[in-house]
Amino acid sequence: MRIFMTGASGWIGSAVAPRLIAEGHDVTGLARSDASASALEAAGVTPLRGGLDDLDVLRAGAEASDAVVHLCFKHDFDRFAESGRTERAAIEAFGDVLEGTGRRLLVASGMAGGRPGSVLTEGDESPFVGPDSPRGGSERLAMSLTERGVAPIALRFAPTVHGRGDHGFTAALVRTARERGVSGYIGDGSNRWAAVHRDDVARLIDLALQKAPGGTITHAVAETGVPTRDIARAIGDGLGLPVQSIAPEDAVAHFGWLGRFFGADIQASADRTRALLGWEPIGIGLLQDIAENYLGTEDAA
Ligand SMILES: NC(=O)c1ccc[n+]([C@@H]2O[C@H](COP(=O)([O-])OP(=O)(O)OC[C@H]3O[C@@H](n4cnc5c(N)ncnc54)[C@H](OP(=O)(O)O)[C@@H]3O)[C@@H](O)[C@H]2O)c1
Repeated sequence: MRIFMTGASGWIGSAVAPRLIAEGHDVTGLARSDASASALEAAGVTPLRGGLDDLDVLRAGAEASDAVVHLCFKHDFDRFAESGRTERAAIEAFGDVLEGTGRRLLVASGMAGGRPGSVLTEGDESPFVGPDSPRGGSERLAMSLTERGVAPIALRFAPTVHGRGDHGFTAALVRTARERGVSGYIGDGSNRWAAVHRDDVARLIDLALQKAPGGTITHAVAETGVPTRDIARAIGDGLGLPVQSIAPEDAVAHFGWLGRFFGADIQASADRTRALLGWEPIGIGLLQDIAENYLGTEDAA
């Protein structure tokens, strides 16, 4: 298959693209800089120069492919609304090109917005509708493309995708603990985060492209919910720092942008995804990964 990827040079994408290439696919990746283009070439990916706002480039990439994997997202949490609008425009551009082709369009999505204390399943619809909602309501928009003869697949990521080289949420927690001299959790820390290893995500995307019917929502989740207090403890114990509750009203002052997320309860299962795709996560769990791969040096993880 010819696959067009956005975000192939990113942390998750750089595990996904080699996996797809190893399975015999030709992968073309969006590259917004010389550095990204070189990284893609080194990984065996053909770069297509352009950014996420270059809708003509996105259309050209999709036009020339049998499937699209859209992982790229503008992670600027201070301009979240703008990121959402960009995301929405990208999905619309893909939809225009893929209309009536029956081709797969796999889009990265998230798990925020579920009810605290409940476990999100693939059967739960995203509550985010419309351009002003988180990620521009892109999951619902992508799923609606089923009616236009596209085969959309939503891939909802656990809030922490972990593994070596992570620079996302878990790495930010480690960095904050080092800077503050304490490893914090918010309130009583009983809220949980679902988690998945990056290598398992790569296998999941490969399987989804082979097997998932259009309109499928998949969950990249290996652990349903790890208490955030345990995450803080794994970091604190590993760094030799005290583990401490942070009052919810102090969360943003303590954690920065992450303070808006770390107190959330985001639990999810992947039972349907496993059954549908025959996917079994095999990577180590989050707490073991923290102990083994996140704490060694300032730059570890
Ligand atoms: N990592 C996690 O724990 C996690 C958790 C939940 C959801 N997710 C989702 O998973 C997806 C991949 O995450 P990641 O951790 O791999 O992200 P990442 O390492 O930050 O990679 C982002 C990718 O998007 C590209 N990109 C960003 N802005 C762009 C723009 N304006 N134009 C073109 N390309 C652009 C980057 O290109 P450059 O190489 O040029 O920078 C890079 O390839 C995202 O949708 C993210 O929201 C990740």
